Amino acid sequence: LPGAEVEEWRPGAAPADHAVVWSPPQQLFDEQPQLKGIFNLGAGVDAFLKLRLPPGARLVRLDDAGMSVQMAEYVCHAVIRHVRELDVYERDVAQGKWGFRKPRERADYPVGVMGLGVLGARVAQAVGQFDYPVVGWSRSAKEIRGVRCFAGDDQFDAFLAATRILVCLVPLTPQTENILNRETLSKLRPGGYLINVARGAHLVDADLIALLDSGQLAGATLDVFRIEPLPAGHPFWTHPKITVTPHTSARTLRDETIAQIAGKIQALERGESVVGVVDRERGY
Ligand code: NAP
Ligand code: GLV
Repeated sequence: LPGAEVEEWRPGAAPADHAVVWSPPQQLFDEQPQLKGIFNLGAGVDAFLKLRLPPGARLVRLDDAGMSVQMAEYVCHAVIRHVRELDVYERDVAQGKWGFRKPRERADYPVGVMGLGVLGARVAQAVGQFDYPVVGWSRSAKEIRGVRCFAGDDQFDAFLAATRILVCLVPLTPQTENILNRETLSKLRPGGYLINVARGAHLVDADLIALLDSGQLAGATLDVFRIEPLPAGHPFWTHPKITVTPHTSARTLRDETIAQIAGKIQALERGESVVGVVDRERGY
């Protein structure tokens, strides 16, 4: 944007046309009521739901920008590691043990993807490439090749009952907070496995621990947490059935992000519409 002046925001900064932000404070918006565009440096906009934004400003999320391929990689890796028992082989090999385990049937490990948006749809298709049965759930009805799609609250239970490996990729909204709890996770096929790559507040931590300890769930891969960094001493750090990563499944990539946001600022300045404008009523 050669014609633009770019400044780091500090309290009292000059009025700007557009803001590029991650986890911004309320003060920024109180001081900048003239903003036309607010560009979030990520896909999830849950941090904005409790803020008062300038009424004329469009809130724009990152739309893929190189995240969907990372998310597909991460989830496929977690699914394959679990089903092929690669974690067990790692432990065996560390003890100098050479031993085979009985191959598992893919048909016994249907993968259910909650959220079939930019990231979820790509993840569902990527997992399907490895011949796992794939089901998906979203708010509005979808048709995705190779994915059995469920939609809306009425079909949530049927989706869970068809799933053994559950991947959470819905946005965090009042409707989805705590959606991964004892009741819902108990509806998965026996020996269920959770992969949470959306937000920590989707999951009721104590319910997951109880279901893992009782043997109802086989394990979990968690990339996101209620408090980040995950506090020292939290049971997730050391639980033998939980794999933790530090919110890294799909990172914001600098060059793709700059190109996307610069292009959208130019489009808005020309009076054109852009994709990724958040519906603030819906919360995503
Ligand atoms: P998106 O394109 O907005 O897709 C969201 C999907 O969730 C849509 O399919 C939507 O249904 C569905 N959904 C929303 N509310 C629902 C509800 N109440 N019931 C059922 N389905 C619902 O979002 P995205 O770009 O795929 O990103 C998804 C989330 O991933 C983000 O919000 C963020 O929290 C998380 N994320 C995590 C990382 C990480 O590194 N861990 C990185 C990026 C993003 P419709 O299609 O019907 O609207
Ligand atoms: C990361 O979590 C994002 O929402 O982009």
